[in-house]
Amino acid sequence: SAVQDLAGRRVLISAGGTREPLDPVRFLGNRSSGKQGVYLAQAALARGARVTLVAANLEVAVPTSVTTVLVSSALQMHEAMTLAAQSAEVIIMAAAVADYRPKTVQLGKIKKEDVGDTLTLELVKNPDILAGLSAARRPGQLIIGFAAETETDADRLLALGREKITRKGCDYLVVNRVSQHEGFGTERNTVTVLDHHGVIVNEVSGSKMSVANCILDLID
Ligand code: C5P
Repeated sequence: SAVQDLAGRRVLISAGGTREPLDPVRFLGNRSSGKQGVYLAQAALARGARVTLVAANLEVAVPTSVTTVLVSSALQMHEAMTLAAQSAEVIIMAAAVADYRPKTVQLGKIKKEDVGDTLTLELVKNPDILAGLSAARRPGQLIIGFAAETETDADRLLALGREKITRKGCDYLVVNRVSQHEGFGTERNTVTVLDHHGVIVNEVSGSKMSVANCILDLID
């Protein structure tokens, strides 16, 4: 088994992708599988941490010794993370959270017979969970965020990351490029880790498990 360098540390991780309900049978979702977050949970557990996973619509199984809180929407994830953050020393927001949700959730199925040829959805902004947790950070709490971007230019990708870490107020930001072929759902990941000054502290390309361990190495 791995070196127990995180023995007893309380690590809170969010994983998966939120689903924003439209009606009882439909939602707006995203392509996150939850793999990177689950590997983070698994690796933290192997290194001795006490792990809580707030999981949204995972496509992968979770190790049984991880305390798991199942959520679906961004609002549910917000509530679960805010509560669990009270007893966490380290928070890693690996989930893909919807920026917007439908303004109203229909009680019955939306029916094309009632709607006609075009359906306009009104969306409202979800709370930024990571920014909220960072603003409410307890002394000594370490907060790590992710930034999944489709930007292909390396310099512009870095600039986006730097702007984002300032806006979110977290300690580290794990920047990765996503497309239909990389990031989401795949076994490998390529990430750049920025500190709160926007300085690159690590660049890793490899299995999502090796990326997970590099991220956990940020914990002192
Ligand atoms: O703004 P963007 O979605 O790119 O930021 C990504 C980071 O912010 C991720 O760590 C994600 O989990 C988090 N996030 C959040 N709440 C939102 C949107 C994103 O915590 N509403």
